[in-house]
Amino acid sequence: MKLPQILLTLFFSACWVGVAQAVDAPYREYDQMEDYLPHVKGDMRLSGSYRHWKDPANLDWRMAGSPEDNWKLNWKFMDPPFNASVHGGHFALDRGESIFKELNKKGRFAACLGARKGSLKGLRARYPMYRPELKHVAGMEEMIEHCGAKEGRVLQNGSYDNSAISVYVASHSNGMPININVTSSGPLKASYERGRKLFHTRAGRFNLACSSCHTKQIGLNLRGTVVTTPYGDAAHFPVYRTRYQLQSLQLRFAECNLDARTQPLLPSSRAYTDLEVFITALTNGYPVSVPSERD
Ligand code: HEC
Repeated sequence: MKLPQILLTLFFSACWVGVAQAVDAPYREYDQMEDYLPHVKGDMRLSGSYRHWKDPANLDWRMAGSPEDNWKLNWKFMDPPFNASVHGGHFALDRGESIFKELNKKGRFAACLGARKGSLKGLRARYPMYRPELKHVAGMEEMIEHCGAKEGRVLQNGSYDNSAISVYVASHSNGMPININVTSSGPLKASYERGRKLFHTRAGRFNLACSSCHTKQIGLNLRGTVVTTPYGDAAHFPVYRTRYQLQSLQLRFAECNLDARTQPLLPSSRAYTDLEVFITALTNGYPVSVPSERD
């Protein structure tokens, strides 16, 4: 090779290395990472509203002060007072029970979900968890789809029936505190860390991260709804929404993504599962409460 040829080859290889590096590390912009405590009490650092909603049994809607301050009660775990009786969540519970019983005639469905000795008690409070069968961390609804398929039933994550079963399973943990361990090293901790990072990753047309709203705009009105903290969310999902139907936590992420003009992901995607682990760890210590209703 002559010198100019060698120089040209070197030049193009250098360009190629540059391109390859750019592909390896796509451009990402992050919000400032908050230092979260993986427990509902951590909210005292963020918005200080935890003291208003820490005791679900004695929740007083007036204690937040004026109606504009109602966001301080988070609306996270109780039916709003305007409909404390029967709502769509109760119908979902009944529907979930009947499908569950049909599928669990031989006890295999419950065992597949991770029930100990056939009992659903406390199961919801331990989710998401690492499932050796899938070789990854999975949320309850992903497992319902997986275990349903093994019984010959299609229960797509995000469908009404899938979420209805999830409500039924969760109802056996009512009053029990959510408790997932994201502090000892392992797949769940790794998932929590990825979720925490995702929560601060800006994306979409408005270049917003979850944290742009849920830590910076808490208490502010966004098109008719007031943004609450990221704490205590997981305990009442799937929730019945008066605007449409049952909504699992991951479908809620999709709604928030759409609202913020970001391409939503599919339920059971790794990214949404990591976000679910993050949000669930921030609900640690808070009692499961289903069926619940939100507007
Ligand atoms: C444009 C602002 C905005 C962005 C960005 C946003 N959200 Fe939301 N989110 C809201 C509003 C408003 C609500 C409804 C009021 C509330 O409960 O906070 C909500 C509700 C929620 C809820 C349900 C709270 C409950 O208890 O019912 C969860 C969970 C949630 N968001 C998670 C996320 C996650 C995870 C992301 C990032 C993928 C995200 N949000 C991005 C504004 C946003």
